[in-house]
Parts: sequence; C-alpha cells; structure tokens
Amino acid sequence: MSDQKPVILTCAQPTGGLTIGNYLGAIKNWATMIDAYECYFGIVDLHAITIDYTPAELRKNSLSCVAQYIACGLDPKKSNIFIQSHVTGHTELAWILACMTPLGELQRMTQFKDKTKQLNHESEDPTKRGSINSGLLIYPVLMAADILLYNADAVPVGADQKQHLELCRNLAQRFNQRFSETFTIPEPYLSEQGKRIMSLQDPSKKMSKSDQNQNATVFLLDDPKIIRKKIMGAVTDSSRTIEHSDDKPGLTNLINIYAAFSGESSETIVGRFQGKGYGDLKSELSDLIISKLEPVQKRYNELMVEPKYLESVLKEGAEVAQKRAFKMLRKIYKKSGFQARIQ
Ligand code: AMP
Ligand code: TRP
Repeated sequence: MSDQKPVILTCAQPTGGLTIGNYLGAIKNWATMIDAYECYFGIVDLHAITIDYTPAELRKNSLSCVAQYIACGLDPKKSNIFIQSHVTGHTELAWILACMTPLGELQRMTQFKDKTKQLNHESEDPTKRGSINSGLLIYPVLMAADILLYNADAVPVGADQKQHLELCRNLAQRFNQRFSETFTIPEPYLSEQGKRIMSLQDPSKKMSKSDQNQNATVFLLDDPKIIRKKIMGAVTDSSRTIEHSDDKPGLTNLINIYAAFSGESSETIVGRFQGKGYGDLKSELSDLIISKLEPVQKRYNELMVEPKYLESVLKEGAEVAQKRAFKMLRKIYKKSGFQARIQ
C-alpha cells in the first residue's frame, strides 16, 4: 500500500448485527473509497462495553462484524480491518485527550443525552435505570483517539456522528496549539444518500441496532420474510399520495432507503410511484432490499464457517494498525512531556 494515499479511518460498534442504516450511511460508502485511500476499518469493542453487555456475545459479535464488513464489500487485501482492543494506544491517547476535555463539552453531546434519557426512562429493567457509567460520558474522547491515533485525513460517518467528529477536530486543534503541530485535522465525509436512515416504527429516531423494538430496524442478516414483514409494517401516514416531504417522515424515510439502495434520486422514485399506493412502494422496496442483501448474506455465511480466515484478516489488520499507532503514540507522548522509555 502506498504511503502517499490520504488516510481514512472509520469504525462501527460490535453491539449486535449491523443494520441497513450502518450499511447505507456508512459501510457501502467505505467500500467505494478503498482504492483512493489508505483505509483503516475498526471494530470498536471498547466502545461497545459502555452499555450493558455479556462477554460471550461481545466476542461473537466482534468476529461476526468482521464477516459482515467483508461481505459488504470491504476487501481485506486493500484495507486494514482491525479490532480496537487489539491495538495498543487507543485508550492511552483517550486518557491524554480526556485530560484536555472540559466536562461540560461531554455532557452537552446529543448522543450522551439521548442514551442517558433512554437508559433512565425506557429501560425495561427498572434496576438498570439510572445506571449510567462514566464510559458513556467519555465515549466521544475514545472515538477522537481512534481517529487521531492514525492521523486520519477523513472520517466517513453517518450524520449522527457529526458532533463527535467536531469534538475530535477541536481536541486535535487544542493539542496542536498547546504542544505544537501534531495532528491532521480530520474532515468528516458524509454521503448524501443514506446519511440518516430512520427507525421504521418512529421516523423521528435514527434506525439503531439497539432499538428495543425489533420491528424498527432491518438487520443485514434478517431473513427475507422478516425484511418484508418489517417494511410492510413500517409506520407511515394515512394519506395516499407518494411524495418526499418533511410532513411525511415515515414515507420519506422509505423513499430515502429506496434511493440509497437503488442509486436513483428520490425524484425518480416519487415519479415512478405516482398513482400507486404506499403498499406498492413498500412491496417493491422489500424486493429491492432482499435482492441487495442476498449476496451479502450468502458471503457472510461462507465466511462464518472460516474463522481461521477471519482471524488471519484481523491479525494482519492489527499488525499494520499497530505499527502506525505506535509511531503516532511515541510522537504524542514526547510532545506532551512524557519521559521516553530507555530501550
Ligand atoms: P454504530 O452502529 O453506531 O457503530 O455506527 C456505525 C456507523 O454507521 C457510523 O458511521 C454511523 O454514523 C452509521 N450509522 C449508524 N446508524 C445509522 C443510520 N440510522 N443512518 C445512517 N448512518 C448510520
Ligand atoms: N461512535 C461511532 C458510532 O457509534 C463509532 C466509532 C467509534 C467511530 N470510533 C470511531 C466512527 C472512529 C468513526 C471513527 O457510530
């Protein structure tokens, strides 16, 4: 891989199966960037423990996430796929950055506020209410460390991560100003189509892996029958005209999903469905999603019976990532005043 290419880094949490939101807002776009960039695709297992989890599930999900990445078109020969906890440096840099982050900046983060609210009010288990851990608060600092440890030029993410990326840019600038030029200021890279896929049951919320209502989310590995059931049952309004409008968030979300999967503009789709009903749109959208996910699911199933191959991908990914991370970490420690270890 040439050193000349700009670097992109991006990650997803192994907190369950990936969703079509992850695919359309993130992974599908990452796959198109592979040739032009030096790519680091992380599976951020340390982020995943900020919410309730079981160790066996986390381990299983991390490997499954690698298989889903590859099945979605991330070629491990052309990119570095790694697990965050396999690379020393993420948590170290997070600590240094945490010591430069005012508490108020973290308390203001929308995702923190939403998750706190969700845990406090919506948790089915009353004993879990109010049990917010400090990891959840410091989560965006660890994310900033993921990015800055590789001196990434660009970070392709869905719209929900824009605020976290802004914090990362501020931290990079703050570090550079205080300790001299060290970090590249990373640019967010948001794809227009698919950057915000909403819940099928409540189109004011983003589609999320961890939604309590399974019908709100289409997972990449959902059975075709389930996909159809979820799309046909998606919440829409009671009018009949197919249009892309802020007044019809449920319908607009379905049109956006259609557009992102088919590559067509929303105007083309709206035009094609004039005179037809919501049921027609939902039915065709179900066919489209099922056909697009079929090869992904087939490849995923092939990969999951080859754990040795997946492990070799992770081994190589972590080696390359670690080399880059160590180089950066040495520089960061030196600039910020730490005594070098005598070799
Ligand atoms: P996460 O599932 O939170 O680990 O997210 C992994 C990537 O998928 C991030 O770049 C997110 O911004 C993106 N993403 C997650 N959910 C959605 C969504 N509903 N719409 C668009 N992008 C999303
Ligand atoms: N916070 C991101 C999310 O939930 C995941 C993430 C962690 C990430 N570290 C990152 C994304 C670094 C991009 C770059 O979607």
